[in-house]
Amino acid sequence: MKISFSDSIPADARLVAHIVDKGKLPVRLESALAEGAGVARFKGRAGQTFEGFVEREGKLVRVALSGAGDPSSAERLHHCEKAGAALAAKYLVSGEEMIVLDLGESGLSAQETASVLLGLALRSWRYDIYRTKLKDEQKVSLVSATIVGAADGAQDAWATAQAVAEGVAFTRELVTEPANKIYPESFVERCQQRFEGTGAELTVLDEADMEKLGMGALLGVGQGSERPSRMLAIRWNGGNAGQAPTAFVGKGVTFDTGGISLKPPAGMEDMKWDMGGAGAVAGAMLALVKRKAKANVVGVVGLVENMPDGKAQRPGDVVTSMSGQTIEVINTDAEGRLVLCDALHWTQQTFKPCAIIDLATLTGAMIISLGHEHGGLFANDDELADKLLAAGKSTGDKLWRQPLSPAYDKLIDSPIADMKNVGPRFAGSITAAQFLQRYIEKGTPWAHLDIAGMVWADKPGHSWDKGATGFGVRVLDRYIADVVEN
Ligand code: BES
Ligand code: MN
Ligand code: ZN
Repeated sequence: MKISFSDSIPADARLVAHIVDKGKLPVRLESALAEGAGVARFKGRAGQTFEGFVEREGKLVRVALSGAGDPSSAERLHHCEKAGAALAAKYLVSGEEMIVLDLGESGLSAQETASVLLGLALRSWRYDIYRTKLKDEQKVSLVSATIVGAADGAQDAWATAQAVAEGVAFTRELVTEPANKIYPESFVERCQQRFEGTGAELTVLDEADMEKLGMGALLGVGQGSERPSRMLAIRWNGGNAGQAPTAFVGKGVTFDTGGISLKPPAGMEDMKWDMGGAGAVAGAMLALVKRKAKANVVGVVGLVENMPDGKAQRPGDVVTSMSGQTIEVINTDAEGRLVLCDALHWTQQTFKPCAIIDLATLTGAMIISLGHEHGGLFANDDELADKLLAAGKSTGDKLWRQPLSPAYDKLIDSPIADMKNVGPRFAGSITAAQFLQRYIEKGTPWAHLDIAGMVWADKPGHSWDKGATGFGVRVLDRYIADVVEN
């Protein structure tokens, strides 16, 4: 969606929309529309829409109202986002090519306007490149929005929000692509293309590099695949020179069959999005780079494909991670933690970060506990946890804190190695987090986000259609904005 600002309503406008606070229709609205809205019980609740047709200067104009709820609500910005998103959902394939958003009477602040536009942009994202048989009425028609009567500063506020929208779109693209298109090498290539000329610095490790570094845990997961594994670091140094970076680390299993501990066939296609953590890290880095964040940040993703094969690792194998700690691989389907432990160790050694946040579609158990409403947050530091919870709440990437403790940690002790890669059936998300914590150096604030239930949606939400949500990008971007840049 191309979004531009204008001083007046373009002469060829066919679709004109207004953002409406609860119970407060625009004064200049034609009486037929105002009455119609009443008859249709349009109240201006957040996300509620109404449309009517009127004649203006001899031409038929489609007028849309989109509710933003009560202006004094604590959820105001979410409601504004919903108002924008509702318009995108309603008109994306309507045949209309341009929407004019007339904010003249809306009273929306610059920040509120940016939220409306963010909703509009996010909800109009589509990935139709593999659909060659779409009928005209199924194709996206709405490609531009012209904003009229916006508050002072709205354009600057939008420039920042637009970077975030681009980051979310990149994550959704990576997550949506099937595993024959996105595998470790092509994930890297797509990042190289997307970050070209942005000032971000990309470093790639191939299998030989990782072998030298002793990443036996990550390499063990990839050894059954024809697709070679990769590690990718994306650095952005927008902050003060010499200031330790914040590190994001993502699980990038580009397809998870389970390996020799093979998953059942039903729903296995979902495991193309087992790189959702890595996708969120790449998208968050893109957002930060595009808005030139005044912060030093590094995004690291461990990229592997988990396949069953004659060369694949077996249950019972013992591998040595880069940290030197040994792992008994009880279940080859608990592969995410094997990838992350080497990525986490390498990140700490290489970049000496001031804090680490990892994101992973790590456990099915997380979906059992929190469903699709919150990502699980595990942390060794209360301040980091609270800041992430706050960033999640304000952006809508909601998180809920989960426990860690030595009693859970004991559950992954192994009789033959330093640890095993799975615990008992219960508390599966927690023992997975305990496993990761064994790779965090003392004194480094660390948080782990288990986003298994959040990266893919079976039904549309307010700012996403069904499919890839882009979860994680916004909470990371906001964390940097609120905690590191301030
Ligand atoms: N990628 C899966 C977790 C997952 C499952 C994410 C379903 C999203 C939807 C992960 O690699 C996995 O297979 N975990 C196992 C761990 C078990 C073997 C201890 C699981 O959750 O069943
Ligand atoms: Mn698995
Ligand atoms: Zn997995």
